[in-house]
Amino acid sequence: MADPTEERAKSKRVGALRGLWPFIRPYSPMVVLALVALVVTASVSLVMPMAVRRVVDGFGTGDLSLLDQYFGAALGVAVLLAIGTGVRYYFVTRLGERVVADIRRALFDRAVGMSPAYFEKLMTGEVLSRITTDTTLILSVLGSSVSVALRNVLMLVGGLILLALTSWKLTGLVLLIVPAIIVPIVVLGRKLRELGRENQDWIANSSGKASEALSAVQTVQAFTHESLTRADFGDLTEKSFISAQKRIGTRSAMTVIVIFLAFSGVVGVLWLGARDVQAGVMSPGSLVQFLIYAVMVAGAVGALSEIWGELQRAAGATERLVEMLQATDTVQDPPKPIALPRPIRGEIIFHDVAFNYPSRPGHRALNGISLTIAPGETVALVGPSGAGKSTILQLLMRFYDPQSGAITFDGVDLRDMTRADFRSAMALVPQDPVIFAASARENIRFGRPEASDAEVEAAAMAAAAHDFITALPEGYTTYLGERGVMLSGGQKQRIAIARAILRDAKVLLLDEATSALDAESERLVQVAVEKLGQGRTLLVVAHRLATVKKADRIVVFDGGRIIAQGTHESLVAEGGLYAHLSELQFV
Ligand SMILES: Nc1ncnc2c1ncn2[C@@H]1O[C@H](COP(=O)(O)OP(=O)(O)O)[C@@H](O)[C@H]1O
Ligand SMILES: [Mg+2]
Repeated sequence: MADPTEERAKSKRVGALRGLWPFIRPYSPMVVLALVALVVTASVSLVMPMAVRRVVDGFGTGDLSLLDQYFGAALGVAVLLAIGTGVRYYFVTRLGERVVADIRRALFDRAVGMSPAYFEKLMTGEVLSRITTDTTLILSVLGSSVSVALRNVLMLVGGLILLALTSWKLTGLVLLIVPAIIVPIVVLGRKLRELGRENQDWIANSSGKASEALSAVQTVQAFTHESLTRADFGDLTEKSFISAQKRIGTRSAMTVIVIFLAFSGVVGVLWLGARDVQAGVMSPGSLVQFLIYAVMVAGAVGALSEIWGELQRAAGATERLVEMLQATDTVQDPPKPIALPRPIRGEIIFHDVAFNYPSRPGHRALNGISLTIAPGETVALVGPSGAGKSTILQLLMRFYDPQSGAITFDGVDLRDMTRADFRSAMALVPQDPVIFAASARENIRFGRPEASDAEVEAAAMAAAAHDFITALPEGYTTYLGERGVMLSGGQKQRIAIARAILRDAKVLLLDEATSALDAESERLVQVAVEKLGQGRTLLVVAHRLATVKKADRIVVFDGGRIIAQGTHESLVAEGGLYAHLSELQFV
């Protein structure tokens, strides 16, 4: 598998990294300490070659005590270098981890509060990549690359100055040679990266082909398609080999050119330097010192060119994170919210509501909906699939705002209250129930975190879930697994219903909550829901008319409109869509 961080888009604006500053600022003392350590170690490294020069030049004099002093000092320098590097590593890495932990939390906090429209624009997978992969990129930059880059900038600048101080003439020569070496590296390097990418693509193609064929191996064999599939895979593999071969050729040529240029440059400089030493213009120590600085500078250039790409990638990541942190939600709590009046009655009114999902601007999911639901009433929403029933519940939860019209809860427009306020008066059993990777008990308690074990069990009993839960290997403490893999569809629904029952809310919304139940469980749940409906407002979306018949009122939807409402008997007598639907089910 390719490293996922490789695939994230880069940014040309490395300055985008500035967006990280608000997260770093709280830790500026740590930044200062890391910087001090950085400067100290860089300076120490830069001083070393001068000491070497003195030692080398001291060889001729035969002064032993001076030699001892130098080596004693060198030991001190080693200690300083060791401690400085350790301190730098500690603070820089810690800072990186701390800042990234903060960023991850900030991103998640933001994402978990966003309304569904946000996740339609930005796929959930992308949001996850931002929280994981992008922050990892930033970690690598903050936790090492930035300090490596700074260190190398210091080494480059300091090294160049000291080179010049060591020998003007030789430095001038080096500066002439360097571009001659850099240009082919840059040109061939670009070509090489291109070929590398091409090669990666072919490899990805061939592994995609392989996984497709192998996961469908029975179909391949059943249709005696093996030889063709083999040929396909072989073809892709050869193509990736050919592109690898091109890359290898370019790389070899580049190696020849670069090694030749670099070494002849070094030889040329050394030759001139050696002549100067021979002529007594330069001391042997100075030549050694010069060489060491030259190596340092070359190393710094190399390191910086490698880090550049990483900085660009992290800048891209930063742009995406900042964008996500600053994104405005289409649904927002008002600045001065009105509190939901207490005691809560549970009256819901749709005033001429029209709505389309943001991802389908031309398609009215609801049109001209006016509907009054009295406190304590049980209303069934029926109609063909796609009629807009679930959408009614979505709007009622204020996951979206209608384009026109208004929805009021106990007389207050939903947009004038905080969402947490009125949502706490509602309990939703969604169309596809969600089971969290936790125990059965925790899954039900999700509805009301402070509920006691006895309350959880009572809710489970009411939802006809108690029996199957106690039959699980560890009863209520059984871990239900990722997405509830251990449960059948009907069992998941009953857990979700228990969760909603436990919430003990004034308004209960059931979206085809019993669709996956067998007849017996449905009857049990039905009884529970009926009991629960007493004193509560109940909105039930249902396909099965057995569920629907008992409602106080039935509202029939079609194509985003309400086409009829009344009791089972009156609607059957009317002979419209409802009569047709009920005929299909009962006859
Ligand atoms: N998230 C969404 N984005 C775009 N269109 C949607 C979305 N959810 C539902 N729709 C569309 O809105 C209409 C009403 O859907 P819905 O309320 O889910 O119907 P149902 O009555 O089956 O519950 C359908 O045409 C459906 O395709
Ligand atoms: Mg639906």
